[in-house]
Amino acid sequence: MRERFALIAMVSLAISSVPRPQAQEPRGKALYDKHCVECHGPSGRGDGPSAVFLVPRPRDFTTGKYKIRTTETGSVPTDDDLIASIQRGLYGTAMPGWDRILPANDIADVARYIKTMAPQFAQPPKPVAIGTGVPSSPDSIVRGERVYEKLQCGKCHGTDGRGTGAVTTTFEDEAKQPLRSADLTEPWTFHGGPTSRDIYLRFRTGMMGTPMPSFADAASDYEMWDLANYVVSLGRKPVWTMTSDEIAAFYAQQDAERKRDPVRRGQQLVETMGCAACHSAYDDQKRVMPGMYLAGGLRIRIEPYGEFPTANLTSDKETGLGNWSDDEIKRAITKGMRRNGTRLLPFPMDYASFSLLTPDDLDAIVKYLRTVPAVSKRVPVPRWTFLPLYLWGKFRMLILGNDPPSTFYPGNAGTKGASR
Ligand code: HEC
Ligand code: HEC
Ligand code: HEC
Repeated sequence: MRERFALIAMVSLAISSVPRPQAQEPRGKALYDKHCVECHGPSGRGDGPSAVFLVPRPRDFTTGKYKIRTTETGSVPTDDDLIASIQRGLYGTAMPGWDRILPANDIADVARYIKTMAPQFAQPPKPVAIGTGVPSSPDSIVRGERVYEKLQCGKCHGTDGRGTGAVTTTFEDEAKQPLRSADLTEPWTFHGGPTSRDIYLRFRTGMMGTPMPSFADAASDYEMWDLANYVVSLGRKPVWTMTSDEIAAFYAQQDAERKRDPVRRGQQLVETMGCAACHSAYDDQKRVMPGMYLAGGLRIRIEPYGEFPTANLTSDKETGLGNWSDDEIKRAITKGMRRNGTRLLPFPMDYASFSLLTPDDLDAIVKYLRTVPAVSKRVPVPRWTFLPLYLWGKFRMLILGNDPPSTFYPGNAGTKGASR
């Protein structure tokens, strides 16, 4: 009996010590299926169930294109690059850091697994020679500023790193998602990290899949390190480390900027208060349909009330706000009145909380909406639920305590013909 056990043990030991080259892969796959599919999708195409809600979209691992690399543009990242990104996460995006959740060997396994998804990894990575760097000093920063001008970083990042004087700061990435050039005064938003080495690598190697180019041969290595030191010097203190005096001064400065540029302020408000999210038509990938930005036509169904297509807010005179007076627009936003004086429902649009906007901010929104290019599109009037269904819905809400669902449909509910 004993011998038999010993034999079995020896045989199984022998089997397990046979080298199995793909041994990590099933483990990597299991880890991937457990932790990464939600966003990156079952086959790594960046199409997990949560993907359409995220900007930027999760990486499509089948393309072999990565933003955070120590390798030449066009090359795949090194294993260490992948591992570092997975450990740390990509700041300023939905990509979480896994170092507190997964042990190092799990991270290495899952990194190896995602490499199997792109044929590009058959070629070895081409690391760049990073050199020794240039320590930061006032002189290096002054030289770096000149490199910033020479390489025309300001075209996309502005002369001050915050977009001032830039040709444009709004772009699209390869997934056709809106993308802004980074605000170089807010280093905590840099996806690949805020150190001079991180920054040096980003502009030296480029961020593949985005308009952020590689500046590999555009300057000498010393110049590039000076530039990295200059970009670090642009970083401001984040509010969560400021004293109360510093915060007061910071907000006073922001207020002054808002007053100087109300259109930009209005645009920020329209984006952050959800006006654009509701008043634009989307496709089934939650991408704004071409030419439909702020042109309305998103169909919102709210049980048990009915269907509410969103209004056209562009400056079109017939179908948009072009012929509305400033006061009429403000009344719609803060009091929920249509132009003809009838009332909108208190939802979908939350005009009760919009009524708390300061007069300056309200002016800024109107000023910005006036600049939105006209799109001719009529949106149908809201359709109310048939009365018995409405009463049944109310009964469910009030007596049974069921929360009624609301649905946002993809597609464009507006047409040229229908009247509003
Ligand atoms: C909550 C959603 C989410 C989950 C879960 C998630 N990711 Fe990501 N991941 C993202 C997003 C979003 C990006 C793209 C960020 C960008 O483009 O700046 C990304 C990017 C990446 C990148 C690309 C880095 C580069 O250089 O471009 C890697 C590698 C990565 N994820 C690995 C993983 C792994 C491995 C897991 C599971 C352990 C995982 N992710 C889980 C959302 C997620
Ligand atoms: C053609 C436009 C363009 C030019 C020119 C450009 N950038 Fe960028 N830059 C971008 C965009 C777009 C992003 C955002 C990429 C993203 O979020 O994925 C970016 C991001 C960055 C980031 C953030 C990196 C990170 O980890 O998220 C830094 C730092 C940066 N750029 C520095 C520079 C410097 C320095 C120069 C000049 C050498 C430069 N950029 C030139 C468009 C540009
Ligand atoms: C949750 C979705 C949602 C959000 C967020 C939202 N709206 Fe609306 N808005 C609607 C809907 C739906 C209508 C049309 C309702 C109706 O006709 O009964 C509407 C109507 C309007 C109207 C009246 C237009 C007309 O032709 O009658 C204006 C003006 C307007 N919204 C501006 C804004 C502004 C500005 C913001 C941001 C501060 C905003 N909305 C945010 C959903 C939204």
